[in-house]
Amino acid sequence: MNFFKTKTSSPKVEGRVEGVFKVTGTGKYSAEYHLDGMTYAVIVGSTVPAGRIESIQLDQAKQVEGVLDILTHQNRPQIPAFATKEKLDKSGYSLPVLHTDQIYFKGQPIALVVATTLEDAMYAASLVTATYRKTTANVDFDGSHKGVDAEPFGKERGTMAAWASAPHVAEAEYTIRHEVHNPMEMHATIATWHAPGKLKLYDKTQGVNSVQQTVSRLWEMPKENVEVISEFMGGGFGSGLKVWPNVPLAIMASSQLKRPVKLVLTRPQMFTLVGYRPQSWQKVRIGADKSGKFTGIWHQAKHATAIYDNFNEGIVRISRMLYDVKNIKTEFATVPLNLSAPTWMRGPGDCTGAFALESAVDELSYVLKMDPVQLRLQNLALRIDPDTGKPWSTNYMGECVTKGAEMIGWGDRKALPGTVKDGDWQIGYGMAVGMWFAGRQKASAAIRLDKDGVITVETAMTDIGTGTGTAMQNIAHEYLGIPKEKIKVKLGQSTLPPAPSQGGSTGLSSLSGAVTAACEAFKSKMDAYASTAGEQSSPANYSLIMQKNKLTEVLAEASSGPGEEQKKYAFCSGAAHFCKVKVHSKTGKVKVEKMASVVDAGHIVNQQAAANQVSGAAVGGIGMALSEEQLTDNRYGCLVGNDLAGYHFAVNADAPIIDVDFIHKTDVNINPTGSKGVGEVGIIGTAAAIANAIYNATGKRLRDLPITPDKVLLS
Ligand code: MOS
Repeated sequence: MNFFKTKTSSPKVEGRVEGVFKVTGTGKYSAEYHLDGMTYAVIVGSTVPAGRIESIQLDQAKQVEGVLDILTHQNRPQIPAFATKEKLDKSGYSLPVLHTDQIYFKGQPIALVVATTLEDAMYAASLVTATYRKTTANVDFDGSHKGVDAEPFGKERGTMAAWASAPHVAEAEYTIRHEVHNPMEMHATIATWHAPGKLKLYDKTQGVNSVQQTVSRLWEMPKENVEVISEFMGGGFGSGLKVWPNVPLAIMASSQLKRPVKLVLTRPQMFTLVGYRPQSWQKVRIGADKSGKFTGIWHQAKHATAIYDNFNEGIVRISRMLYDVKNIKTEFATVPLNLSAPTWMRGPGDCTGAFALESAVDELSYVLKMDPVQLRLQNLALRIDPDTGKPWSTNYMGECVTKGAEMIGWGDRKALPGTVKDGDWQIGYGMAVGMWFAGRQKASAAIRLDKDGVITVETAMTDIGTGTGTAMQNIAHEYLGIPKEKIKVKLGQSTLPPAPSQGGSTGLSSLSGAVTAACEAFKSKMDAYASTAGEQSSPANYSLIMQKNKLTEVLAEASSGPGEEQKKYAFCSGAAHFCKVKVHSKTGKVKVEKMASVVDAGHIVNQQAAANQVSGAAVGGIGMALSEEQLTDNRYGCLVGNDLAGYHFAVNADAPIIDVDFIHKTDVNINPTGSKGVGEVGIIGTAAAIANAIYNATGKRLRDLPITPDKVLLS
């Protein structure tokens, strides 16, 4: 059986725990719940990018049948944490929605129309108008970043002077356009005050506990009084890691109306209200001695941000940890614009940084006339994390590189660019490496055994499509020796054992410790019950043991988190990405012919799910390299377009079957299963690998993503 875009040596194919629920529609996404007395809300966005609201005209909208209320900054209920200036400053929430007449970006919510039907709410929203006192807006990153100086980011190691006279140097600037997450499922919130002082939210989020925490802070109420549910998700590429305006808006409307409120963003609103990968500029200077040993790296970066939110994704971080280099200087700045706030997106920071760094290393390989594979192997920091000086717990990136080279057939690459042709197509090979800190956070899980012998593994963590639920089932199966058919999982509810958000490739690494700890706690409990009952403790006897103890259920909960090992070691996941591209010499079209990704992520709990994450990320990398861009128009202070017809994701037709493999070496220090995150490293470096292959094919060095056909032809 051939899986979506993945070729991997998985020994056995198994379905996902959530698969049947998702494909039959029985699993509910946040917007799919129906509550009694439900009302529907629609956001009205500002039509100007900067200035102040002078007045909002609601009369026409209010006349629409079914309209229950229209909230604006003048009549909305107070969010307690924003009640005073001091509180607002401390709230930690970047844009207090409907809290001000000030406009920061086009599309900023200025009103919320609530009606008994969605249609009435949409129609009425179309009738809301406002007058503004406009001021000059700036959404021009290219024109603005030159006026902002990058400042030191991290400590400088060595000196720039030490490598000023390096015999071989590559130096260039790299740029990447604004990119938008756009998971298939829209962000949506249903809010209901279901009992006095008790709030329940169905919200599309990557972290129910994080939403719970933010909301309880904003409404100054105990955490326990805020319940958040996000049981199934239609994708989350980082946009689900924050609380966006839809959450407080739905809550405010529900408090005002004393009825449940459903607020689903429209696709156009997905472009402006839930973050994006900011546009960026980078400059990398890298030097090497005659043998190809790196002597120094100077990496500067700037990216856009909102004028009301100084988000920083840490672009230059990767240059500080990937290579063994004595002299390093990293600098960074944000460039405030009249855009909504950016946020983490698919390999945030490092994905952007790796494009520049790994392109520059490739450029240096041609200066040195050295094979890029050899150059990586010679310079990777495989033993010590150069940034912290701590030894890597494990780092098998060298093996990733060697294995990936075999998989792609690197031996067929010609060192001289532009020499291999097939009719009008030019053919080339490229590679790059990627690295991601392997994080682990404290998490909890529970094991519940019912009287029918069914185990349920429970945790508040969400599964955004990565296979977390399936991996939990796999771990419980391994630790308890109970057949997988008898193990269910329950996820994404704040009432379940607390867990961090699923993001930054930390989900399974955090949770695997909790699930194993819960399994151990459960086994001890069963051992105790078994001895009371005079039976041997084994899964075969669990029913009997429960009967004899007159139990209808056994529940064991446990937590697990990082500890002393964090002081001793640095942790990373690594990847090497290889590709073969063909470039059409008359049209400039680029086709990725073959792609191979090898990932070092410790022990792989579920090979199929892990490989699917890597191949999915690689497809994202193809989009980043070749097609994804959200342009802005400074004349109107807006984004150009806001739909999936104009924003080009890579789809199946743009991607080959991606050959994924793993190193399969357990990291015994990180957590009980020895597993590290795989999500982010699947995309970190892929865009550089593709750009490097295009250079090898054509001799054209393209440093501005996406590499659309016009750029190929005109360079
Ligand atoms: Mo991600 S950017 O870790 O959801």
